[in-house]
Amino acid sequence: MKFFIDTANLKEIQEAYDLGVLDGVTTNPSLMAKEGIKGDANVRAHYKAICNIVDNNVSAEVIATDFENIIKEGKELAKIDDKIVVKVPMIKDGVKAIKKFSSEGIRTNCTLVFSAGQAILAAKAGASYVSPFIGRLDDISQDGLELIAQIRQIYDNYGFDTEILSASVRHTMHLIQCAEIGSDVVTCPLNVITSLLNHPLTDSGLAKFLADHKKVNG
Ligand code: G3P
Repeated sequence: MKFFIDTANLKEIQEAYDLGVLDGVTTNPSLMAKEGIKGDANVRAHYKAICNIVDNNVSAEVIATDFENIIKEGKELAKIDDKIVVKVPMIKDGVKAIKKFSSEGIRTNCTLVFSAGQAILAAKAGASYVSPFIGRLDDISQDGLELIAQIRQIYDNYGFDTEILSASVRHTMHLIQCAEIGSDVVTCPLNVITSLLNHPLTDSGLAKFLADHKKVNG
């Protein structure tokens, strides 16, 4: 399963990359705004800075919501770097744009997906990734992980190439259950990745090993 980090914060991206387990980055307009990135030139420069840190797979989201402008904006984003994946919302013009990008070899991530029907449309349009938002479904008392399992089954039934990119992953159990279900990718904040390190028996075991070593070696 690939690990993407869901942030536009360069320090966090570098930290996850340095850990040696990072396969990509996802951003969205909210995450860019959180870093105070505004204006086209600054946005482009920021995406380039992210691409300079990681090896591949940097999702950059379009702001446009009509077909012509999604295509225009997506092509500009794709020109920034070969690592860019154009992130397009699950709306009618977005699906049309994903089909066009796909026919031109531009990779896409279909975002804001909350149902199996939407995931089928994204795959049929040729999206490289589909992003179902687990946490936001849980927030409204629907089972986000159940949706991942449903999409996994449907994509396997028909051999769709679209990768399931589980998003809005809020904690380690989300991540682990995505791995059990067979999600291709998870995207999550840095603390979800680093929390995977934690186990009290690791801490107490290491303390004992070091104490025993010190007894003999001083
Ligand atoms: O990748 C989507 C993500 O940014 C949304 O996460 O926690 O705001 O629902 P959240």
